[in-house]
Amino acid sequence: MADIEKAADVNSGEVVPFPGEPKPDAAAPTPARVLAVANQKGGVGKTTTAINLGTALAAIGERVLIIDLDPQGNASTGLGIDQKSRQISTYDLITGERPLREAILATAVPHLHIAPSTMDLSGFELEVGHSRDRAYRLRAALGKLNEVAPGQVAYTYVLIDCPPSLNLLTINAMAAANAILVPLQCEFFALEGLSQLLKTVEQVKQTLNPELAIHGIVLTMFDARNNLSGQVVADVRAFMGAKVYDTIIPRNVRVSEAPSYGKPVLVYDLKCVGSEAYLRLATEIIQREKQFRERRAS
Ligand SMILES: Nc1ncnc2c1ncn2[C@@H]1O[C@H](COP(=O)(O)OP(=O)(O)OP(=O)(O)O)[C@@H](O)[C@H]1O
Ligand SMILES: [Mg+2]
Repeated sequence: MADIEKAADVNSGEVVPFPGEPKPDAAAPTPARVLAVANQKGGVGKTTTAINLGTALAAIGERVLIIDLDPQGNASTGLGIDQKSRQISTYDLITGERPLREAILATAVPHLHIAPSTMDLSGFELEVGHSRDRAYRLRAALGKLNEVAPGQVAYTYVLIDCPPSLNLLTINAMAAANAILVPLQCEFFALEGLSQLLKTVEQVKQTLNPELAIHGIVLTMFDARNNLSGQVVADVRAFMGAKVYDTIIPRNVRVSEAPSYGKPVLVYDLKCVGSEAYLRLATEIIQREKQFRERRAS
């Protein structure tokens, strides 16, 4: 929590204005919806969800950009981006060295692009931790994303793959996002850490980004043969109610094999249960987006 207090000057109790935020303008390009895939617990399926939800959204007609905000670079590797192609990375854009458009690379999936990461990102906190706009670096980089030049695409979704920590990188993602998508692994300690995450979201909302919402919680790695998985689903639904998506991602060996081929599971094996689940999740997310839009309009 110290990170966020540092980042947000929360003690003042005021929303820190994002420097240079443009006023909404009727002629402005439609901004992409920005969803941060976040959970400070490691190995719960954040990257797998970013890659495969991104692929599923692209497959149903959305234009998707994945921002790899984890120094581990698993989303970049899982989408087949090798180290030497990562000449410009998310580190360069959050340090303000290069504009976001220059970091973006196409993937093998039509309409799915990625801004890759490198290990440099791990130095971000030390390097910019004292600058006043430290929590808004990603938001600033995303600001002009859809001011497209001829031949460039306007994105409809941006998915941010967060690192397994509530550090300044994750705070940047939360400050830049419209909503958070939380993968929870169906295992004994699933709920552990969730209250801390929800508390952080609430603090970011009060200090950095008043619009931040919880988009939903996706249960991952469900194992039907394991009684515990069923109990975890019941507990999480009892605790979080309608915030939990109906779609549950099963544990599926094809899902875990796909990244080693540098492919999303939907490309590696479209017919497997993991691919089907991520397609269902994409449909559910689009339905929820429609409800969000209707609520905002009313
Ligand atoms: N549905 C699934 N079925 C089987 N294996 C899965 C599934 N989802 C994820 N995995 C595997 O679990 C491991 C952790 O998944 P992933 O890397 O997506 O988690 P993460 O939350 O991004 O991890 P980190 O916190 O390290 O960034 C990976 O080896 C991945 O292949
Ligand atoms: Mg990851």
